[in-house]
Amino acid sequence: MTASNSEKAQTIYLKDYREPSYWIDQTELDVNIRPNLTRVKARLRIRPNKNLTGELLVLAGEGLTTHSVTWNGQSLEQNDYIIDGDSLTITSPLSEGWLETEVSFNPEENTSLEGLYRSRTMYCTQCEAQGFRKITWYLDRPDVMSVFSTRIEADKAQCPVLLSNGNLLEAGELDAGRHFARWVDPFKKPSYLFALVAGDLACKADAFTTVSGRPVAIEVYVEPKDLDKCDHAIDSLKRAMAWDEARYGLEYDLDRYMIVAVDDFNMGAMENKGLNIFNTSCVLANPKTTTDLGFQRVEAVVAHEYFHNWSGNRVTCRDWFQLSLKEGFTVYRDAQFSADMNSATVKRIEDVNLLRSAQFAEDAGPLAHAVRPESFIEISNFYTLTVYEKGAEIVRMLANLLGAETFRAATDYYFSTYDGQAVTCDDFVAAMEKASGRDFTQFKRWYSQAGTPEVTVSDSYDPDANIYTLSFTQSCRATPETVEKLPFHIPVAMGLLGEAGSLKLQSKDIALSDEADNTHTVLELTEATQHVVFTNVLEKPVPSLFRGFSAPVNVRFNYSEAQLIRLLKLDSDEFNRWSASQELAVIAVTTALQEPPAFTLSPQWLEALRDILEQQMIEPAVLAYMLQVPSVSYLHDRLPQYDVLDIYAAREKVVKALALNLESQLTSFARCFDANVAYKVDAEAVGQRALCNAALLLLAHAQVRSASELALEQFKSANNMTDQLAALKALLLFDEPAISAEALEAFYQQWHHEALVVNQWFSLQAAVESDSALTRLEALTQHPDFQWSNPNKVRALVSVFGNQNVTGFHCASGAGYTWLADVVVKVDKNNPQLAARLVTPLTRWAKYGRRGERMRQELARIAAQPLSKDLFEVTDKALKPD
Ligand code: ARG
Ligand code: ZN
Repeated sequence: MTASNSEKAQTIYLKDYREPSYWIDQTELDVNIRPNLTRVKARLRIRPNKNLTGELLVLAGEGLTTHSVTWNGQSLEQNDYIIDGDSLTITSPLSEGWLETEVSFNPEENTSLEGLYRSRTMYCTQCEAQGFRKITWYLDRPDVMSVFSTRIEADKAQCPVLLSNGNLLEAGELDAGRHFARWVDPFKKPSYLFALVAGDLACKADAFTTVSGRPVAIEVYVEPKDLDKCDHAIDSLKRAMAWDEARYGLEYDLDRYMIVAVDDFNMGAMENKGLNIFNTSCVLANPKTTTDLGFQRVEAVVAHEYFHNWSGNRVTCRDWFQLSLKEGFTVYRDAQFSADMNSATVKRIEDVNLLRSAQFAEDAGPLAHAVRPESFIEISNFYTLTVYEKGAEIVRMLANLLGAETFRAATDYYFSTYDGQAVTCDDFVAAMEKASGRDFTQFKRWYSQAGTPEVTVSDSYDPDANIYTLSFTQSCRATPETVEKLPFHIPVAMGLLGEAGSLKLQSKDIALSDEADNTHTVLELTEATQHVVFTNVLEKPVPSLFRGFSAPVNVRFNYSEAQLIRLLKLDSDEFNRWSASQELAVIAVTTALQEPPAFTLSPQWLEALRDILEQQMIEPAVLAYMLQVPSVSYLHDRLPQYDVLDIYAAREKVVKALALNLESQLTSFARCFDANVAYKVDAEAVGQRALCNAALLLLAHAQVRSASELALEQFKSANNMTDQLAALKALLLFDEPAISAEALEAFYQQWHHEALVVNQWFSLQAAVESDSALTRLEALTQHPDFQWSNPNKVRALVSVFGNQNVTGFHCASGAGYTWLADVVVKVDKNNPQLAARLVTPLTRWAKYGRRGERMRQELARIAAQPLSKDLFEVTDKALKPD
């Protein structure tokens, strides 16, 4: 690391939080857009914070050229204010009044995609977390809430559409082909929720009537070529609006709800008040160009941003350490919504897969942080799986501990008490405590202690006394900020299975839930070690633990294969049936690692799988997931003593053996593909396609010849992107370069005019595991459709390669690491946020043994260059010795 890197980097601590010394009650912006030069006048109604009198006003700004500063109409002179780097200080304390600044900057050259920037045919903004300071001098922090009015002026031919938050007050023509619009948002909001869009956009309009009868105009703005891809987002939005009314009693509060689709965007989407801005990949959908997963993602992200209107906008965060207050809660809300709209079990499996394969890895790596972190250098680095997904798990545990009715009382209390305020995670938990009368002091360790708890469970059975005892021990490994962890409050949803299924639960010393059948209960662990005794247990049971993944922990119970098969076949909890299937696969991979080359799959497991596939008592989408062997990343976490490529090879053996042993069942599923069935996206149709395509992919993995014909046929005749892309993926798995190349070329010719499909085409190729993976990757970066300035394209090649192409990224020469490091340094010059994410695979060096040393060298090489704050923070933390 260079001296200049660490000098630039200033660590901000939660413990240093102080109220702002001034408030800004009103913000009047005048944004004048001209090619390569935008001028912004800001009139700010300033009011001293009476708790902190006599302090100076210090505003934040980045990359601004300042033309004037006035106070109550009086121009301020050289020593009335000081601009020092990114701050502007007024040198004497202020009373209440108007501060006016005029600045300019060049959005066309803003490649960070933060602040006001240009994407293709439009100007747009991204202000969360700290982008507003790239637009004007401001108290750019979420506890300063203001009423915004925004006048936008631009060339009418270039930018016929001018949008900002709230309601359109006036619009009109000006001289020289220019025009303007003035928007006012009546709700106070922090600057991170400000948005502005100016460009040549087409609009798809619709409407929604709220439960109290208020009409809301819905408008989705896209480039004209994408007008055929708006319907699904609009339908999803209407469903989300109705759902939030029914489930949370929350209604929309403005006359208009606008969504704009932007192609160059760092994240998925942004919940700006009344004017959401979306990455095209999270809003545009059409069966021809979008997969089922894409459809579900659009539905989920549209709902997520909509739900933020209450969990985030009406009630916002006091400071950025509280980010999970809005993100964890909103992810929980969108997960509930998706579960209600589709299959609840499938949604849970998907979320848990993500948690186990990616969030657990984050928690185990050098960038592990608490859901409410204690410190940061660059807050953009904390929009993580931990803050989002683990944060949602915390809310889910609270909701389950309270029960639906009490949880609703708690959220009612939360939204009504804190409406219009900027609050903390403690305030959220306080609402839960108030509604339930419970004490969640210990529970709050989930917010402050990083790391995934490990719960080791053992059991014993006394057949004479009919007593069954479960013993739980919890621990959590040290993480960078905390070495010694105190016990977590862990809810364990569970039941016991006998030979014929669920057993009734009775216990002397614990209260069991009084559900009618009394075969299910939720235990609450609060100690490092705890024993739970069940009485009247007439046979030795198999425990079904953490049903529905009731807590984000690693569970260790020494299940035998026969016990897992009992769970797989008999558990009343469908999620745990899937979970058992994954454990069985882990056992198979472990066996393959220990017994090469004479490896065979367990006949009992195969027989159970055949039974399940033939009976079809489980919904097809869940079956599809049961056929999937856990990811290399998850397996590597479970079996850290092995080299990643050995794990990869063992997993390949298991996948192939599974396919060959289930060939006849899989073939009959794969044959279900029928190009004449009209495409629908409901849960049932999606599940059918998922199973059919999972079967096809397994067969392709095992090089089953007949599947190659099936794949080719499906590739050519599919009437939707899900089936076509799955077929293409299957074709790429066959060791037939000519067929693969031809299919890839045909696909490109068919879809080259659809940017989002081309991204899929890039991803697919970046994931192909072969000796020439890097050569192929390098060639793809030279493809005319590839642009380094577009994050979706960069992620399609770079993130997919680093995270999914195991043999390519970890190739023995280390060339994969070098390639990624070069890319990261190059991207950092233009887009620090993106660079800091792309580097993630290298930060995990410590778990890769001898390969890890090469990874670490590449990280050190990155750290030796001049870096952005974003990338500096990540590489610096990743290089710190344990
Ligand atoms: N609040 C947005 C969402 O989750 C994400 C914004 C991310 N912005 C950032 N700079 N990392 O819906
Ligand atoms: Zn969010």
